[in-house]
Amino acid sequence: AFPKRVRLVEVGPRDGLQNEPEPIETPTKLELIDRLGAAGLAYIEAASFVSPKWVPQMADHREVMTGLTRRDGVTYASLTPNLKGLEGALACGVEEVAVFGAASEAFSQKNINCSVAESLERFAPVLERAREAKVRVRGYVSCVLGCPYEGEIAPAKVAEVSKALFEMGCYEVSLGDTIGVGTPLKAKRMLEAVSREIPMDKLAAHFHDTYGQALTNLYAVLEEGIAVVDSSVAGLGGCPYAKGASGNVASEDVVYLLDGLGIETGIDLDALAATGTWITQTIGRPNRSKVGVALAAK
Ligand code: HMG
Ligand code: MG
Repeated sequence: AFPKRVRLVEVGPRDGLQNEPEPIETPTKLELIDRLGAAGLAYIEAASFVSPKWVPQMADHREVMTGLTRRDGVTYASLTPNLKGLEGALACGVEEVAVFGAASEAFSQKNINCSVAESLERFAPVLERAREAKVRVRGYVSCVLGCPYEGEIAPAKVAEVSKALFEMGCYEVSLGDTIGVGTPLKAKRMLEAVSREIPMDKLAAHFHDTYGQALTNLYAVLEEGIAVVDSSVAGLGGCPYAKGASGNVASEDVVYLLDGLGIETGIDLDALAATGTWITQTIGRPNRSKVGVALAAK
């Protein structure tokens, strides 16, 4: 059965922008975050405390996290792959962070320069320190429906890594179809394996739309009870360590779908679509939300 309400995790300012080749001004990022909050997004992944040598676009994480105007009821989160990242984020007063692992060894090496087992060892002290600081930690698992280097990924592997993150203390595990290769049956089978280990209400879907399947895959997992969806305004984005990977499913398209299903989100679709139009015009990118384009043409 479908959930009554879905929580959207807006990853546009992070996943959406991290791969942009041209520098984006910090004030543009701050305005984007503010507009998203105004449109009703209650959870915004705003920055990433990773190495600026690896991901130059996120080098202004400190300016973003300290410069944003906090709205009541909105969580502003950051990625923190290790203790150095977490300390940086804590110094900016972050209230929530995320660690990110993978169900693929090759992807783990390319993305965070260590094996899956080593990544889990690195996350343990991050979770411990975050617990002390009373900061909640979300966990990502990448390549849950396929890997750009290894191809097929076994659902059992996804379940194993997800379980490790959950047992370590991640309050929620977000399942990433990093390169958007999934299809609905595959997504359901993967979710079936993971939900045997972790309750459904502790799981989120993070689907990229590279092959145009993200919305369909979401429909499939919503039916299974997934009630947290990661998305990016205007479908911005792509992972720097997954060649050819395009953006996340567009937030506007997800909200339109959920509205149509009678599922509450608390989001103002018109304001969100206007934000998508504005950010794509500002950074000179195509708007990859079909709903956003349609509403802008009205
Ligand atoms: P490393 O090189 O193995 O780490 O990188 P290290 O500890 O050996 O440190 C090397 C250098 O990096 C040192 O600097 C450190 O100080 C610095 P140097 O002495 O050479 O000048 N360093 C840092 N600087 C800033 N912030 C930090 C930090 N840590 C070390 N936190 C590391 C390991 C993880 C840091 C690196 O591999 C990295 O930054 N990777 C970036 C990965 C990334 O951001 N990928 C994109 C996000 S994940 C994603 O998009 C997928 C997701 O959306 C889900 C999905 O779609 O599937 C979440
Ligand atoms: Mg992603």
